[in-house]
Amino acid sequence: VSALHVIRTVAEMQAASDDMRRAGRRIGLVPTMGYLHEGHQSLIRRIRRDADRVVVSVFVNPTQFGPSEDLASYPRDLSRDIALIAESGGDIVFAPEAEDVYPDGFSTSVSVKGLSGVLDGASRPGHFDGVATVVAKLFACVRPHSAVFGQKDAQQVAVIRRMTADLNMGVEILVCPTVREADGLAKSSRNIYLTPDERSESGVLFQALQAAENHLRAGEADAGDLEAIMVEKIRCHPVAELDYAVVRDAETLGEVKEVRHPALAAVAARFGKSRLIDNLVLFPADRADS
Ligand code: PAF
Repeated sequence: VSALHVIRTVAEMQAASDDMRRAGRRIGLVPTMGYLHEGHQSLIRRIRRDADRVVVSVFVNPTQFGPSEDLASYPRDLSRDIALIAESGGDIVFAPEAEDVYPDGFSTSVSVKGLSGVLDGASRPGHFDGVATVVAKLFACVRPHSAVFGQKDAQQVAVIRRMTADLNMGVEILVCPTVREADGLAKSSRNIYLTPDERSESGVLFQALQAAENHLRAGEADAGDLEAIMVEKIRCHPVAELDYAVVRDAETLGEVKEVRHPALAAVAARFGKSRLIDNLVLFPADRADS
């Protein structure tokens, strides 16, 4: 087993990727913005099973933050990340500088129409263009055979799957289940912004999703009714400022009338300065135990 290698430039990453491909290695990529938590570690462990060489990128991508968002204050701690990546089984940490990724004159953007403008895309204009563009660039730098993402960012997964297929990128997209705190709160680097009060209320997002799932199991398949159940649950918590609570087609994110096929229940709410998102895949009642 070779030691963890830290690469700080795009050119060096591309050269390392060429070497690995020439040696017949299967390369797996875990794209991250750093400040790793157990969710990221589960992604590293998952791709370890798929790939001979695991590259973890650590890059706080400026183009996916809106002007009033938390780019400047987004938590960063590369030496801590490197230690966690080594511990979880990574081989290479790719941590480029923003000027290297976006040199002067950079003017290309990848936009996955339709999927990028709804839900989080409606509240965060330009966010998914920034995500699609940087993921396309990370794929071009690392040239992985596979890449893994967390189900917590379900819309991001839908956007990246569509982009990868539409642009014939030939990267296999893997998805790992959301890792949660004991009260159900989905792990996120942004959870550190929550005040103790907000933190104790934030479990309501998962409770709302579970309430929708329970009603579906009890036979309530109407999407509007399931949405109303989630809205009511979240509204009981005045600390939470609801953005959306919806049931959508898991692939197209389009509206559905009833849960007859697996669907995505997705919620977003603001807790003070933090905007939290979460989701659950809902399986139709007759498939709940399958
Ligand atoms: O999920 C994230 O951390 C980011 O959106 C990603 C995929 C690393 C792109 O910057």
